[in-house]
Amino acid sequence: MIYSRIIGTGSYLPVKTVTNHDLEKIVDTSHDWIVSRSGISERHFAADDEKTSDLAMHASRRAIEAAGISADEIDLIIVATTSPDQLFPSTACILQDKLGIRSGGPAFDMQAVCGGFVFALNTADMYIRGGQAKTVLVVGAEVLSRMLDWNDRTTCVLFGDGAGAVVLRASEQPGIISAKLHSDGRHREMLKADPKISMDGQSVFKFAVKVLSDVVDEVLKDNGLQGSDINWLVPHQANIRIIEATAKKLGLGMANVVVTVGQHGNTSAASIPLALDTAVRDGRIQTGQNIMIEAVGGGFTWGAALIRW
Ligand code: ACO
Repeated sequence: MIYSRIIGTGSYLPVKTVTNHDLEKIVDTSHDWIVSRSGISERHFAADDEKTSDLAMHASRRAIEAAGISADEIDLIIVATTSPDQLFPSTACILQDKLGIRSGGPAFDMQAVCGGFVFALNTADMYIRGGQAKTVLVVGAEVLSRMLDWNDRTTCVLFGDGAGAVVLRASEQPGIISAKLHSDGRHREMLKADPKISMDGQSVFKFAVKVLSDVVDEVLKDNGLQGSDINWLVPHQANIRIIEATAKKLGLGMANVVVTVGQHGNTSAASIPLALDTAVRDGRIQTGQNIMIEAVGGGFTWGAALIRW
């Protein structure tokens, strides 16, 4: 049986940090309001000349280095993004060139908004299990700061820019155990970018907590596991209150949840690989542990995946 294992992680945050106090100077808001509603203290914004593919390139180089492979061994690139450099070519093709990869393997983007990384990881896993790829680069990268409506103070304070990447490799040892993905286009008006991000925050909140705990339960049941079998929950980092409510529904203490939303804000498809890389590099995530990732995003799209590290 062929599985895909994560053999390297990497991430990148733009140099510019924007604190809540910085936002107080341009929006009618306060540090206390933002922290109490979302858990966010600061986020990073890309420089004017930095594109999504640049963030993706830095994160990818770090993941490739951590994996100890040469970039040319990568035979598939999937970039999850909702803020591509341009309409086309895909950010994945631009990234392939920036990384100097000349293997000619396929490279494409995946658009499932904040659910994008889980969708991309599951797709990469299917390529590896199906024998069509051996070494895959999966990236979540976003420059959301250019999509913010600075006249909508409830929404513009929540988002940030960043990128995270993982290298997956075919293996006989279990890595990604299983995943579940869902979409329901009836809820598309609840959260959208047209071209600026707008959302019905309270409806998103309720919907997110329900579907996230349901989809994690689905994955656990498929594998005969319970919440207590998860070593680390690595959730999409949208909002500390969504994360806490989901963990509570799953019977998990916050000591088993990786939380980076305070420093990163909501970086959409980049948030899970950013959080994964943080917890791998600081030693929390260890070989043999059960890691559960979950995310929900505009569309709506949502999903979860169980990974044996
Ligand atoms: N600063 C200060 N006050 C504010 C701000 C702000 N930035 N924004 C809104 N307010 C005020 C409002 O005007 C309102 O004042 P009023 O009572 O005098 O009318 C008050 O705060 C409450 O406004 P609500 O919109 O009801 O705020 P709520 O408590 O619902 O919090 C929030 C808004 C944070 C968006 C919340 O609904 C939420 O957490 N939603 C989840 C959505 C989310 O995290 N989405 C992430 C993207 S989706 C994804 O990744 C899946």
